Amino acid sequence: MKRIVDIVLGLQWGDEGKGKIVDVIAPKYDIIARFQGGPNAGHTIEFENKRYVLHTIPSGIFHEGITCVIGNGLVIDLITLREEIERLINTGIPVKERLIISDKAHLILPTHKALDSAYEQAKGSQKIGSTLRGISPSYQDKIGRNGLRMGDILLPDFEARYYAVKSYHYKILEQYHYPVEQIQESHRKFFDAVAFIQQFRIQDTALYLNNAIQNNKKILAEGAQGSLLDVDFGSYPYVTSSNTTAAGACTGLGIPPNTVNEVYGVFKAYCTRVGSGPFPTELDNELGEYIRIKGNEYGSTTGRKRRTGWLDIPALNYAIMLSGVTQLIQTKADVLSQLEEIQICVGYLYQGKKINYLPYNLQDKITPEYITVPGWKQDISQCRNKADLPEAFMNFIETISRYVNAPIQYISVGPDRSQIFSLN
Ligand code: GDP
Ligand code: IMO
Ligand code: MG
Repeated sequence: MKRIVDIVLGLQWGDEGKGKIVDVIAPKYDIIARFQGGPNAGHTIEFENKRYVLHTIPSGIFHEGITCVIGNGLVIDLITLREEIERLINTGIPVKERLIISDKAHLILPTHKALDSAYEQAKGSQKIGSTLRGISPSYQDKIGRNGLRMGDILLPDFEARYYAVKSYHYKILEQYHYPVEQIQESHRKFFDAVAFIQQFRIQDTALYLNNAIQNNKKILAEGAQGSLLDVDFGSYPYVTSSNTTAAGACTGLGIPPNTVNEVYGVFKAYCTRVGSGPFPTELDNELGEYIRIKGNEYGSTTGRKRRTGWLDIPALNYAIMLSGVTQLIQTKADVLSQLEEIQICVGYLYQGKKINYLPYNLQDKITPEYITVPGWKQDISQCRNKADLPEAFMNFIETISRYVNAPIQYISVGPDRSQIFSLN
């Protein structure tokens, strides 16, 4: 098998800057393929003083000559996909020519979004902090074998199938006393979106991608969310409903594991998390607020405040291990530039013992153990190669490298396409 597929994925709780990285390295590839998640993702790309946020469309869409694939591993909201496509078309991007959608991707129906709200509300203080985009209910129907797929929208009896699932969902919503009249309007909107999306290429993308591999086309698989939100390995139950780690690229695209070459792991120089759930290194204080403001840490999808905290090495090492990361990319160190000193969590104190791994029960009290390194107090956002970087910054990078036992290959120092370089 040809090792011709590379993967970009997040190593923390999402929002590491995956969209930017995919956009930057996209020109080396023929195909960019998203492999999981749905419109809970918000991938930001900045160039020529413009900022774009993508939710379902792969982050290669701005490049001519590249085909973007929405893989079978996704859950797709046709209403928001239509809006996303229309926004791109309005800025002059020929989306129809560049996009292929898997016929096996599952649909998010308006009732899935209602169910997401109903389930979250019922959880009360235990709520996950979901983006309320219908992700979990749609994946539940996929695994429960009740889901509707993209290919179904091309079938003559799609409407009947839709209304059958809808009435099944309404029964559940009634039990939760959900005001279903609130979503009456969305059924019409949904069918308008169906008519719109029917014009796009909907096909077996596993066949398409494997043919491309046979023909030596280079493929980049784009992940969403982050490794610590993985449904198997993340901080369960405070996770998303898909496999965000490298294995998810194989099931989410239908590509064999032995076609995978590089795995690019993206991590911030600190940590953020949106929604509920454990966050051992959280800075729930003035410094955390400073990082949030300086790093513009507000959700790209929901606008919610992102929680902020120090870099967590045990969690990072776990993520690197799970995905067999071969290239590390650090983003957003520019945000820390004015700090006197910076802390890095290198272990935890748990039940009276020092450990350097994430314990099973993350609800228990975990005390992070930190090392402190000097800050660099110098703007690094204009640096474009290793020689430009302050010594204290290089010390920060080398310290992290030592603790993760691997070099850091790329440094991103700002949101723009141009603000990134290799350390080699
Ligand atoms: P994604 O979900 O992983 O694609 O990340 P998001 O787009 O949700 O969040 C990352 C945010 O940081 C976006 O606003 C990016 O424009 C921005 N960003 C990416 N890389 C850098 C960086 O190196 N420095 C700074 N300051 N911002 C960055
Ligand atoms: P990108 O791809 C950050 C979080 C939500 C919530 C949990 C479950 O932009 O990195 P869900 O809607 O999936 O049921 O929410 O996961 N979450 C994200 N956090 N970045 C994301 O995507 C996220 N997608 C989901 O905040 O805590
Ligand atoms: Mg994001």
